Formats: sequence, structure tokens, C-alpha cells
Amino acid sequence: MDNAEDLCKYDTTKIFLLSQCDKTTVIRLWGLKQKVLTMRLYHPLQICSFAIWNQYSQVMSIHKTVRRVTTHVLNEMKLKGEKIAMLTAYDYSIARILDEAEIDVILVGDSASNVMAGYDTTLPITLDNMIYHAASVVRAVRRALVVVDLPFGTYQGNSKEALVSAIRIMKETGAHAVKLEGGHQIAESIERILSAGIPVMGHLGLTPQSIHKFGTYVVRAREEEEARKLLEDARLLEKTGCFAIVLEKIPARLAEEVTTTLKIPVIGIGAGGKTDGQVLVLHDMLGITQEFSPRFLRRYHNLYAEIKGAVQSYISDVRNQEFPNEKEQY
Ligand code: KIV
Repeated sequence: MDNAEDLCKYDTTKIFLLSQCDKTTVIRLWGLKQKVLTMRLYHPLQICSFAIWNQYSQVMSIHKTVRRVTTHVLNEMKLKGEKIAMLTAYDYSIARILDEAEIDVILVGDSASNVMAGYDTTLPITLDNMIYHAASVVRAVRRALVVVDLPFGTYQGNSKEALVSAIRIMKETGAHAVKLEGGHQIAESIERILSAGIPVMGHLGLTPQSIHKFGTYVVRAREEEEARKLLEDARLLEKTGCFAIVLEKIPARLAEEVTTTLKIPVIGIGAGGKTDGQVLVLHDMLGITQEFSPRFLRRYHNLYAEIKGAVQSYISDVRNQEFPNEKEQY
């Protein structure tokens, strides 16, 4: 027997018995396998580890097959009354953490214009910028549904341009859906995008791309007339074929009415607790941004202070020649 494969066939009973062992044992055996490979020394027990490892990795890869969140899954969640958790991400490293934490939906929001690029509004971000962010996010994601905002000026003017923009997003990033702000005014664009088989998420209420029309970021649809129009728009978006909608900064009672009226999932931000899910901008909920503090925002961390503290410690270590120490050099 001069090669590993022949040796693996050596004792099938033992291989079977060992294949019943737990993860730690298998990992230990795998370490042994690495040693064996390096030393090119083969012993029956060691050889068993080859076979077990092969079996084990197959089993693990089956267990690791995660169920992808699709638009269909979101619908099922609404039917079962399971809440949908959505957050924004704009880069690979953060998207990976979110996905491994099992977030349901990742939004590559045009809020990147504020939190990543430092603009005052979401208007300046370009389609190329959004594609760069979205492609980085998609490379990290195994499970979540990735939705990408169509940026201002790429879909409002005409529906053909809207389709071209949405196709670029889908082709160049590998994302799963696009999000557009607005109701009846953009219905034609939504219809055309949907006709190409691209899932669309709607966005009503406070629509930051229209900030210069409204002039302020205050709560929307407090008045009956605006609330009625919002409900009509929500119905229209559902009828047109949107798979979900975001409701931003509107009274909780109106959001609840929209949620119970529509069959598609409704995700809220500043829209109370009765929607089918919630979305927040990651930089806000982690406390990286400090200047933005609306009532609806719950900060889960103060990363601004933590990062600043860590950076200050590093600066001080460098200045005092405490970094690197002897163990941190070659
Ligand atoms: O761009 C964004 O982050 C958004 C959320 C606020 C919903 O649209």
C-alpha cells in the first residue's frame, strides 16, 4: 500500500465506528492527518482519519447548506407572524458579520451617501458608487436577501432608464432585488423593472431622495389626506407586484393599517412596532454616527467611543514605544 487512498480502504469497520465520533475528535484526527501528510507516515488508525475527515466534511457541508432568504421566505414569515430583521451594509467585512448573525435582509441603502461618503443628503451618490458597495456586500453574503437602492436620478425620469439602472445593479453586483422610493409617480418604472424579472421593494412615507421637495425630515402622513394617499400608494405598489415595502417615519397607527391591509411584508423604520419587520441604518444603531438622534433610533452600542478609545490607546502605545513588544516582532 503506497498511497493514501489505498490505505483508506484498510479497515472499513474501524472507519465506520470512528465516523460516529464527535466533532472534537474528528478535528483532532484531522490535525493528525495533517501531520501524517507532512511526515508521509501512514498507520491504519491515522488512515482512518483521512476517511473520517472526508465523510465528516461532506456531512458538515450538508449541515452548512443554509436556507437562503428569498422574497418567498419573507412572504412566509409574514404569514407565520415571524418578524423580519433588516439592516444596512455597504462593505464586505460588515456584510459578513451581519450575514453570519443571520440577518434576514441586507439593504445596500443610498444612506451610503451620508454614512460612507459624508454628504448631507442621499442625492449625490451615483449608480457606479452603489454598484461598488453592493458588489462588495454580495461577495460576503451566503444567506440574507440583498436589496440595493436605486439612487436618485436613475429611475424617476423614464421607465426605460429605470430598467437599465436596475439591470446594471443585478448584473454587476449579483444582488437579489432593488428598492425605489415613491408611489404612483414611479409606478411605470416599477412595472418595467418587474417585467424583466427583477424583484422590487417599495419605499413610502419619508423618502429622503425627495428632501428638497419636503424641506424637512419630520414625520410624514400625520394629516388625513396624506395618510389616505400613502395607503393608496401602498395598495398600488402591492398591485403592481412589489414583494415588500419600507415605511419610513410615519405614525405607528397608519403603519399598522398598511401592514394589515397588504399581503406583502411591510418593513418599518420609525413606523412603530406593528409592521412585519424593522430596518435601521447600521452606523446609527451601532452608535458610529453621533449627530443623528431621532426618537425611533435605538443605539445598541457606542462604537464611536469604543473605536476612538482603541485608536487613542494605539497612538499612545506607538508614541511610548510600547507597540510592538518583543512578542510582536520577528
Ligand atoms: O438608504 C437607506 O438606508 C434606507 C433605509 C433608511 C430604509 O433607505
